[in-house]
Amino acid sequence: MRSLQNILVTGGAGFIGGNFIRFLLEKAAGFSGRIVNLDALTYAGNRKSLEDLEARGGRYFFEYGDISDRPTVEAIFEKYRIDTVVHFAAESHVDRSILGPEAFVKTNVMGTFTLLDAARNYWGESDGTLRQDVLFHHISTDEVYGSLGETGAFTEATAYDPRSPYSASKAASDHLVMAYHHTYGLPVTLSNCSNNYGPYQFPEKLIPLSILNMLEGKPLPVYGDGRNIRDWLYVEDHIRAVWTILQKGRTGEKYHIGGENEWENIQLLRVLIDITAKKGGLDPEKLRGSITYVTDRPGHDRRYAMDCSKIKEELGWKQELGFEEGLEKTVDWYLANPGWIAGIRTGEYRKWIEKNYEKRI
Ligand code: NAD
Ligand code: DAU
Repeated sequence: MRSLQNILVTGGAGFIGGNFIRFLLEKAAGFSGRIVNLDALTYAGNRKSLEDLEARGGRYFFEYGDISDRPTVEAIFEKYRIDTVVHFAAESHVDRSILGPEAFVKTNVMGTFTLLDAARNYWGESDGTLRQDVLFHHISTDEVYGSLGETGAFTEATAYDPRSPYSASKAASDHLVMAYHHTYGLPVTLSNCSNNYGPYQFPEKLIPLSILNMLEGKPLPVYGDGRNIRDWLYVEDHIRAVWTILQKGRTGEKYHIGGENEWENIQLLRVLIDITAKKGGLDPEKLRGSITYVTDRPGHDRRYAMDCSKIKEELGWKQELGFEEGLEKTVDWYLANPGWIAGIRTGEYRKWIEKNYEKRI
């Protein structure tokens, strides 16, 4: 078991990073160290998601800044004596990467490079070697592998074949992480995860966008023929896997995390409609009628599926929450948190979603 004391979480004001910080403070057995959240608060970041934790004070610290800004990153390593990095920060939405790829290269490639190089510098010993009692964990995606046919699943040995500017930028960051391990001896672990869903997810992604559109009486956009397949995982199952890797994962290794829970988008939407109708007091027939097929995403990957046997067999992780139960918890959360939703549906996001979704339906 690794001993973790001062963890730098990047992108902790976003969906998965925020859930991870909440988990560390409330559920991570045996962890009593400090957590520093470095986040640039882009359209997808919301400091309010963690305001209750911030108000408690003590072990959680928020630092506003860009992961590509070397002086900021170096100062944080020094100030908090960072021994562990858990790197979530990214531009994360495929559609946005098609509309504006530059931000993805800056944050996902240059940002990851800056963090790696600052870690290498800070963790350097006087004899030119690097400390080995530290860890840089990189969060990546199944999308780096490209698209599957009707059968099979990605394994850790599958060759990279990214198809969108988003997945290409994540693939580049994965390669840099492994290069820093092999070339400089930086202690790293890497995880590739499938589609997450759950509380605090920004409503540009399929599940929260659909829930909110149902609650607001708006159309439900389905890309192409609606038969693209994704492998869905509840966010807390992802986080427990990351926590397991931080404690027990072998340095220099990558691990797959997934739901092993494949759904065609249109089938998923039908289940989500039934749950949201029941919980929100809405007419399911009317919701089904609001499904609107729209122009497909360019280069839309057909199917993803993850083989998770390595993390299961080696580290003893497994998925805990069933899909229906996870969706119910998610719908409950969005129904209970209109204030959070109102808070993020302003500013840059509002302008973007109006331009890209509502006008084209
Ligand atoms: P998100 O878009 O909800 O949050 C990203 C966070 O990063 C935001 O708080 C944002 O402000 C911050 N950020 C962006 N650019 C930054 C910069 N230059 N400097 C500092 N902070 C910056 O993303 P998410 O869905 O929580 O994804 C987190 C990570 O998990 C990403 O690396 C993503 O590629 C990966 N991932 C996501 C999923 C998924 O289904 N959401 C699945 C697999 C992997
Ligand atoms: O697979 C992991 C990836 O999952 C992560 O790396 C990404 O950060 C995350 O955004 C997610 O990518 P996807 O592109 O799969 O997620 P998204 O929610 O955008 O879309 C899921 C599927 O639903 C995809 O096939 C496109 C489709 N879709 C999406 C939206 C937003 C629709 O049909 N309609 C929509 O309105």
